[in-house]
Amino acid sequence: MKIFESMIGAPLIARTYAKHSEFFRDFYAEAATEIVSRLEKGTVLDIGTGPAYLPIEITKRSKLSVIGIDVSKRMVLMAMQNVKREHLEDKIRIEEGDAHRLEFPDDHFDLVVSTASLHHWHDPTGVFDEIYRVLKPCGIALIADLRRDAPMEKVKELTKQMPFFCRFGNAS
Ligand SMILES: C[S@@+](CC[C@H](N)C(=O)[O-])C[C@H]1O[C@@H](n2cnc3c(N)ncnc32)[C@H](O)[C@@H]1O
Repeated sequence: MKIFESMIGAPLIARTYAKHSEFFRDFYAEAATEIVSRLEKGTVLDIGTGPAYLPIEITKRSKLSVIGIDVSKRMVLMAMQNVKREHLEDKIRIEEGDAHRLEFPDDHFDLVVSTASLHHWHDPTGVFDEIYRVLKPCGIALIADLRRDAPMEKVKELTKQMPFFCRFGNAS
């Protein structure tokens, strides 16, 4: 996991990931629709934001503002470029940051989201404690990642549609 974490920060891997994860645009749109149906305004934290596709889809559909953090400098730069390209700088802020030590005050966010990042966290329980700390009372956390025990037919159905780069990690 550590190896992949540092790999994703490498220029070629980061660019390739960003390019091919566009394949998941429909997923981000669907996730954003679900998120904005739960919250009309307020501040959202996206942990492990990657190329910031989710914050972009959220802010296009709502009055929410989003802070996206990522541990990879390369991803942070890419996310900033994507946000600028969409002219969403007034609604999305991108920062370098580690999920395990969220540099935000207690009771700060209305919603915390994270997609496909949990499998990188070396201490997921510690991250959940951090999420709980930065969420306002009655705040919402929506964390999505692939499950190891997903039915094989579902995995095959999904990976069949994926470009090679995304299929590469599904050997185990
Ligand atoms: C598979 S990508 C998913 C990116 C984005 N959420 C998406 O759905 O496209 C995982 C991201 O999590 C980031 N990440 C890994 N460990 C992290 C940590 N401890 N804190 C913050 N971000 C982390 C990686 O740098 C990478 O950009």
